[in-house]
Amino acid sequence: MTRRLVVGITGASGAVYGVRLLQRARELGLETHLVVTPAGVLNAHHELDLDRAALDALADRAYAPADIGACVASGSFDTAAMVVAPCSMKTLAAVAHGFGDNLLTRAADVTLKERRPLLLMVRETPFNLAHLRNMTAVTEMGGIVFPPLPAFYNKPASIAELVDDTVERALALAGVRDAQPKAWSGLRG
Ligand SMILES: Cc1cc2nc3c(=O)[nH]c(=O)nc-3n(C[C@H](O)[C@H](O)[C@H](O)COP(=O)(O)O)c2cc1C
Repeated sequence: MTRRLVVGITGASGAVYGVRLLQRARELGLETHLVVTPAGVLNAHHELDLDRAALDALADRAYAPADIGACVASGSFDTAAMVVAPCSMKTLAAVAHGFGDNLLTRAADVTLKERRPLLLMVRETPFNLAHLRNMTAVTEMGGIVFPPLPAFYNKPASIAELVDDTVERALALAGVRDAQPKAWSGLRG
């Protein structure tokens, strides 16, 4: 099985999820292919003080969103899965409607058509009806809507731990076998 993972970072809040995902994918020996939208760069700069070059350096290969001729735009380029972390409502809408207007949304469209796992780490609150309908549409197409909602039952000691728990679960859902999400062992008594 290929170890290629396509990663998208959009302009929703939570750029740290994309960053930790790339770092963890590297630790696990995955080959990462990254597309960051302009709003994704804006947000990563605001939230993490990282510029495009710093984000791109976290991946094996990085592409400009306008580079619609890149390998990840074609289903013939074999990939294991794609994760968009975080995923804005705008990108969700594009994916829900098969609107491949940039390399990120095209790669997501390709991932769905090739029936490969597509995880959208959607982030917004509260949701309006368009958001909810778009999430339903993506789910009906086989995509996985994976909002980064923290689980407090593992008693995370820090925000970093909370983020890492979510990232590990996302990687496991994307089919990365050596990901190690924390398993709930049940309450005693
Ligand atoms: C600081 C900041 C935070 C944002 N947070 C969100 C968010 O959590 N969810 C969302 O859907 N859009 C959010 N947006 C708006 C998106 O960035 C905007 O809709 C953008 O057009 C998304 O484009 P993209 O999907 O191509 O990255 C935020 C924008 C800024 C500047």
